[in-house]
Amino acid sequence: MERLIIKGGNQLHGEVECSGAKNAGLPILASTILFDDPVSIFNLPHLKDISTMLELLNSMGSVIRFEEDDGIEIDSSSIDNPEARYELVKTMRASVLVMGPLLAKYGKAKISQPGGCNIGTRPIDFHLAGLQQMGANITTDSKFIYLEAENLKATHFKFPKISVTGTENLIMASIFCDGTTTLENCAREPEVEDLINFLNSSGAKISRTDDATVIIEGVAALNRNNWSILPDRIEAGTYLVAGAITNGHVKVNGIQPSLLEPIIEKFKEMGAFINTGKDFVEIDATLTDLKACNISTEPFPGFPTDMQAQFMALNTISKGESTIVENVFENRFQHVVELKKMGADISLNGSTAYISGVANLVGSSVIASDLRASASLVLAGLVGKNRTEIENIFHIDRGYECIEEKLNKLGAEIIREPVV
Ligand code: UD1
Repeated sequence: MERLIIKGGNQLHGEVECSGAKNAGLPILASTILFDDPVSIFNLPHLKDISTMLELLNSMGSVIRFEEDDGIEIDSSSIDNPEARYELVKTMRASVLVMGPLLAKYGKAKISQPGGCNIGTRPIDFHLAGLQQMGANITTDSKFIYLEAENLKATHFKFPKISVTGTENLIMASIFCDGTTTLENCAREPEVEDLINFLNSSGAKISRTDDATVIIEGVAALNRNNWSILPDRIEAGTYLVAGAITNGHVKVNGIQPSLLEPIIEKFKEMGAFINTGKDFVEIDATLTDLKACNISTEPFPGFPTDMQAQFMALNTISKGESTIVENVFENRFQHVVELKKMGADISLNGSTAYISGVANLVGSSVIASDLRASASLVLAGLVGKNRTEIENIFHIDRGYECIEEKLNKLGAEIIREPVV
């Protein structure tokens, strides 16, 4: 076990490179199951979740080769054990992404029950309902979900509520179906788009009629391909908040501003100066005291739930009152109690947080409860007076590549030390 120790109070300045997007890397890695030939993937972030997905593919029989130019070649033609084991699913719910491609390619899958998690019950009933409608026979016991289908059939399925991994699973499941599959009320996140673009460039026939409807015409096979994962808009957004919260000036390179539109809008509303170019976004908060902003999380193109905790940290020391409404997950406010330990003034009523800006946060001993909650604690620690200690930082390593290294290059003082 390790912890992060942050000495707060430094203004951040400088440039930081954005890594590849975890949430695009995961489904794209899972989709390699669909291929008969090896596939090379580049720009994968060095993250625990990515290594968990690689371990899962490997445990099923995929052969993984690390290439010299930081790419990975995956040959999933040798899968002989289509099972997602408990030890892997429990550490990463996105393991369920192998369900659709396993059924499409091998006609069966055995997946450990994902159960609830810290940010809510997070069922996978839409994934299962869609697969069942495609003809999969699904049985469950207390430990596993067993899926079987000789040939999945094309169908018309409407998601009751938008689901990112649900959309990805059903797209992958329908790649080889005879005929046309129509999926309505789909997620439009850029990471879903990256999966679609990758599959189309490999010979799939996936299109959208309107933004939220995805049409998949079945094909016989996918072709050998190379792909570079799109940049991580949530990581980029987090470093921009780091600039904002320290009244600093930070430029994030390697990210298209269009991926960050709802986030950039909020920074502007708060009074920060934003400059964008083809592949960078820069924030300058040196000259202004930012005004707190109201936020309501929504599926893309709305404000992302994955940036809610970071903006909560920012609002706690911005001028004025604000509300944050969490519409995507039912229990995504676990950072609130920890931010309050640091002097934040926040009260909760159901899915709404009411925040009154305070002049200062004070360093404290806090516990990370999930990935984005831990990012909000790091951000709060950057401005907290004195020293902040963050426990349970394995959560942050699931989603941020070298976070202390990148922040320290911008002028932060963060060390990682073992918990004895
Ligand atoms: C993905 C992202 C996660 C992000 C989330 C919302 C990945 C690997 N993870 O998670 O970072 O926070 O989208 O943008 O891409 N739901 C159901 N039944 C289902 C599926 C979902 O009720 O079968 C509910 C969920 O409980 C949640 C909402 O739908 O309330 C949205 O969840 P979903 O979009 O599926 O999240 P994930 O795909 O798990």
